[in-house]
Amino acid sequence: MKLISVCGARPNFIKIAALLRELADYPEIESILVHTGQHYDTAMSHQFFDELNIPEPDVNLEVGSCSHAVQTARIMERFEPIVLQHAPDAVLVVGDVNSTMACALVAVKLGIPVIHVEAGLRSFDRDMPEEINRVVTDALSDLLFVTERSAVENLEGEGVSPAKIHFVGNVMIDTLRAHQQLADRSDVVARLELHPRDYVVLTLHRPSNVDDPAALARLCAALREIQRSHTVVFPTHPRTRANLQRRAASTLFADMPRLRLIEPLGYLEFIKLMRDSAAVLTDSGGIQEETTVLGVPCLTLRENTERPVTISEGTNRLVGTDPRHIVANFREIVSQPTQPRTPEYWDGHAAQRIVRVIADWHRLRSRAPLTCESGVAARPA
Ligand code: UD1
Ligand code: UDP
Repeated sequence: MKLISVCGARPNFIKIAALLRELADYPEIESILVHTGQHYDTAMSHQFFDELNIPEPDVNLEVGSCSHAVQTARIMERFEPIVLQHAPDAVLVVGDVNSTMACALVAVKLGIPVIHVEAGLRSFDRDMPEEINRVVTDALSDLLFVTERSAVENLEGEGVSPAKIHFVGNVMIDTLRAHQQLADRSDVVARLELHPRDYVVLTLHRPSNVDDPAALARLCAALREIQRSHTVVFPTHPRTRANLQRRAASTLFADMPRLRLIEPLGYLEFIKLMRDSAAVLTDSGGIQEETTVLGVPCLTLRENTERPVTISEGTNRLVGTDPRHIVANFREIVSQPTQPRTPEYWDGHAAQRIVRVIADWHRLRSRAPLTCESGVAARPA
């Protein structure tokens, strides 16, 4: 079997790492890795390849940053010849970024089956670019691997055949479990002159929070209160950094001496920083999941989440962007002890289950008689 796996943005690298490690145990699967180049800074891309031992991509499409339409179109234009050249048996995409949707669309138009890892999550908020990417990718996929039960229900509700859906767990948590001991050895907390539980970690990068000045101002009002009792460490995503520069961060944060903006961290350092923190405040998808498994309280600064299991079976609270609500919840969570939680199948073996299903699926397909209706006629030679 020939399989092209796609990655493009920071959370993709964390997810693909677990899958590629597992694929290495299947000599019958020829694995080709394509990096779209959606993220390209060392701090947003290369360092994850080094830390997580991800093989050098076979191809980098080097699309860079641009508008949604241009980025999606550029990925499609550059990915199509790669698919034609390799004629894979399937294209595997992860998560919900533009690279995910663009490559799924290219594959399906060439009659190549699409495998989606982290399918079925829904925020039911179509203003989120990721929600569009999720809905489109899932509609195109032949194999849909899901992380939580809500995703199975979402997909079945959209008419996806249950035979295509596999509830296997969470590859992001596979990577976390595989690297937790290594992360524990990081000296990041001492290096930043922090003390365990005296600080909170903040990450923000959703356009609804950081591109909108009013939303950002509301979040700042909450941070102003929180930094009175806790140092706030803020590894700043490049989208956010660009926004802060435009709005003169020095004025926005002028009266917040305990707010510390730092560069995005490497994976191991970031995991350690979260693990020793009093709480994490975030609008990230993946971080809601990681804090659940680390047992660190998490406040999600959004109106919705596509990952409800992190609330029902985890340490997450959805608190929106109202400063009073954020601060009240913050005071509560830092005064209550939390324990690590393990939602169903978040046991570190999701990639094993996924690759086994893919190998079996391919074996069955290779035995099935080929017909024009099966889409093979549309395949490149
Ligand atoms: C993307 C994903 C989002 C994901 C996030 C993970 C989409 C639509 N969004 O958002 O779902 O949660 O990645 O981090 O796919 N930039 C740099 N250096 C880089 C990458 C980006 O400076 O290496 C800057 C550029 O100014 C760029 C901006 O960040 O315009 C946004 O990058 P982009 O990839 O378009 O979206 P993200 O906000 O990173
Ligand atoms: N992460 C990291 N360094 C940072 C911030 C985040 O290594 O400074 C990791 C984090 O542990 C998680 C992933 O990046 O594994 C989440 O990516 P992001 O928040 O950018 O995207 P999302 O999950 O929201 O799509």
